Amino acid sequence: MAVSAERSDTGAIVHRTMVEADVAAVVAIEQSAYTFPWPEGIFRDCIRVGYLCRVLVAPEGIVGYGLVAMGAGEMHLLNICVHAHCRGQGLARRLLVWLLDEAHQTGNGYAFLEVRPSNHAAIQLYDSLGFRQVGVRAGYYQATDGREDAQVYRMDLDVWAMARAKRPLLRGT
Ligand SMILES: CC(C)(COP(=O)(O)OP(=O)(O)OC[C@H]1O[C@@H](n2cnc3c(N)ncnc32)[C@H](O)[C@@H]1OP(=O)(O)O)[C@@H](O)C(=O)NCCC(=O)NCCS
Repeated sequence: MAVSAERSDTGAIVHRTMVEADVAAVVAIEQSAYTFPWPEGIFRDCIRVGYLCRVLVAPEGIVGYGLVAMGAGEMHLLNICVHAHCRGQGLARRLLVWLLDEAHQTGNGYAFLEVRPSNHAAIQLYDSLGFRQVGVRAGYYQATDGREDAQVYRMDLDVWAMARAKRPLLRGT
C-alpha cells in the first residue's frame, strides 16, 4: 500500500502529521492512558526535532497518535496510543502499519521498541505484526512499586516489506 507522508484516509479516520496545535488533545489522551504519562514538553520536543509524529483523526477529533525516532538506519517506536473509547477497532494496527511502511520507504532497515511485560494488549499487537523479542532492559520503566523491566522487540523492515508485498492489505489496514 502506498502511503502518503502527509495524510492517508481509511474510512472516516485519517492520519496526518502531528502539529503543535494537536499537543493539548494528545496529552489529554496520554494522561488518560498511562499511569506515568509523558509530559507535554516531550511531545513538543519530538515535533521540534523532526521525529515522525502522527495523529489519528476521527470526525470527532484526535483519537490516537504514534511517535517514531529514526536514525542510523533504524526506527524506534517511542509511543503509540489509542483513546480508550476507540480501542479494539484496529486503529493501532493501522497506525503501526503506516509507520512501518513509512520507515521502510525512507530507508530504515530495522524497527525497535520497548514494552512493559505487563502490557499484554501491546505485546499482542507487536507479535501479530511480526516483531520479535530480542532483549530486556532491566528496570527501564517507572512503576507504582519501584521499576519494571522493558522487553525490547525488533523487526527486520525488509522482511516486513516482503510480507506487505505478498499481503498488501494486511488485516485491519
Ligand atoms: C495497545 C493499544 C495501542 C492497542 O490499540 P487498539 O487500537 O485497541 O489495537 P487494535 O484494535 O489495532 O488491535 C490490534 C491487535 O492488538 C492486540 N490487542 C489489542 N487490544 C488487545 C487486548 N485488550 N487484549 C489482547 N490483545 C489486544 C490484538 O492482537 C489485536 O488484534 P486482533 O483485534 O486481530 O486480535 C491500546 O490498547 C492503547 O492505547 N493502550 C495504552 C497505551 C499503550 O500501552 N501503548 C503501547 C505502549 S508500548
